[in-house]
Amino acid sequence: MSQAATATASARPPTRSFLTRSAVSPTVPLLPGVPVLGNLLAFRKDRLGIHDDAAALGPIVRFSLVHIPVYSVSDADIAHEVLVTQAAAFTKSAGLQFLVPLLGDGLLTAEGDHHKRHRKLLAPAFAPKRLAAYGDHMVEETRRQCASWGAGKLVDLSHEMMEMTLAIAGKTLFGADVRSDARTVGDGLEMAMRSMVQSLTSPIQAPYEWPLPRHVKMRRAVKMLDEVVYRLIADGRRSGTDRGDVLSMLLLAQDEEGGMTDREVRDEVMTLMLAGHETTANALTWTWYELGRNPDAMAKLVAEVDRVLGGRAVTADDLPALPWTAAVIDESMRLHPPAYQTGREAKQDITLGGHAIPAGSIVAINIRGIHRRADYFPAPLAFRPERMFAEAKKARPRHHCLPFGAGPRVCIGSHFALMEAQLALATMAQQAKVHTLATRVEPEPLVTLRPRGGLPARVSRRIAS
Ligand code: HEM
Repeated sequence: MSQAATATASARPPTRSFLTRSAVSPTVPLLPGVPVLGNLLAFRKDRLGIHDDAAALGPIVRFSLVHIPVYSVSDADIAHEVLVTQAAAFTKSAGLQFLVPLLGDGLLTAEGDHHKRHRKLLAPAFAPKRLAAYGDHMVEETRRQCASWGAGKLVDLSHEMMEMTLAIAGKTLFGADVRSDARTVGDGLEMAMRSMVQSLTSPIQAPYEWPLPRHVKMRRAVKMLDEVVYRLIADGRRSGTDRGDVLSMLLLAQDEEGGMTDREVRDEVMTLMLAGHETTANALTWTWYELGRNPDAMAKLVAEVDRVLGGRAVTADDLPALPWTAAVIDESMRLHPPAYQTGREAKQDITLGGHAIPAGSIVAINIRGIHRRADYFPAPLAFRPERMFAEAKKARPRHHCLPFGAGPRVCIGSHFALMEAQLALATMAQQAKVHTLATRVEPEPLVTLRPRGGLPARVSRRIAS
């Protein structure tokens, strides 16, 4: 059996207590539902809407998915309790278990000592000095993407951003040109995410071994992705040197327990690919959406980029001189956080916002709802990048805006993502004219929040690269 096939077969299936939970807190307001199914149908139909409805009832509100109680939190202080001050009382929530066949024990899904050890092993790959070296790849791949944009070419910006961030992930994570594998990787990740959402929203929770269409889809996705990832790992092992990418660093990483096995490296790389490429692509797509609706903000962006860079390529050293570019991205992630919610499961009885919450409860932090609260951000639906300037940030509590989460499970790639988004946006604004063709786009909450049906735009070159 090939190494990839062995790993696929050994992928740990969902095992947690998702099927058996029944704890409820009597003092938390309840979102009305229907007998037996509770709020499952509403959850399947509109996973953002259910959090919006809950947020309208209070800072912490309970709804139920058949027999599973879920506490929706749209209050920054309670979210801070869950993610930071009482983090030790929680594990990641059971819903994430549906991604375990793909991600194994990678950082996103791992718990306890394994998570602690791997967070330490991965940290050097995201250290500031290392990040600066990724910057050139980020700019180069963005310029390559722009080079394919002719005069008034009609494109789906969502697709363009996905292709571009995947190419950037390939170069920075693997030191490889994965544009030739892009279709396999893109399709594999998409299939896995759709399977995960189908499992999450199904009234029947079945063991992963059962050959249901969604499980077959996940297995196909894992097989496709394993073939690419294990090939890149084998190439990396053969080379045996630090080539400046994340993979070669992981292959060489050592602690007192030694290095990582191929399976461990595979889980981490798969996790970084899933967590890193689609989130940043969506952040950039939503940014173009808002810039299209706010021509003044777009004009300021182009003026800043032209003034600071002239015609030369942007580098990581230029970023402090591009505050509007950074603020545009931050404000876009406030309104449309790619990770729109995150879940936790209480390991023990706890008190949250003054309510007793029983062990086994699922707590869903409504990140998007927190970002859209009028008492935190006046005129919350308006796109106002100036509220993301350093002085404005200092004037409000930090935890009111949490696109990267918080606490011990905060995004390990946040600096990487912000650098990538800023370098890519500056490069695109310099190289191209982007005219979006949709003024209203519905959000589609898959694993991350993307524009439903994509974002059509006409793109033309501004300057020759
Ligand atoms: C705009 C882009 C991104 C957004 C909005 C984002 C958001 C998040 C959030 C909210 C979490 C915490 C989830 C939780 O608490 O349950 C997270 C975790 C994580 N992110 Fe990101 N992320 C982005 C980009 C990236 C990139 C570029 C990478 C890597 C290359 C990455 C890798 C990870 C990993 C490995 C975790 C798990 C960390 C842990 O549990 O220790 N993310 N991300």
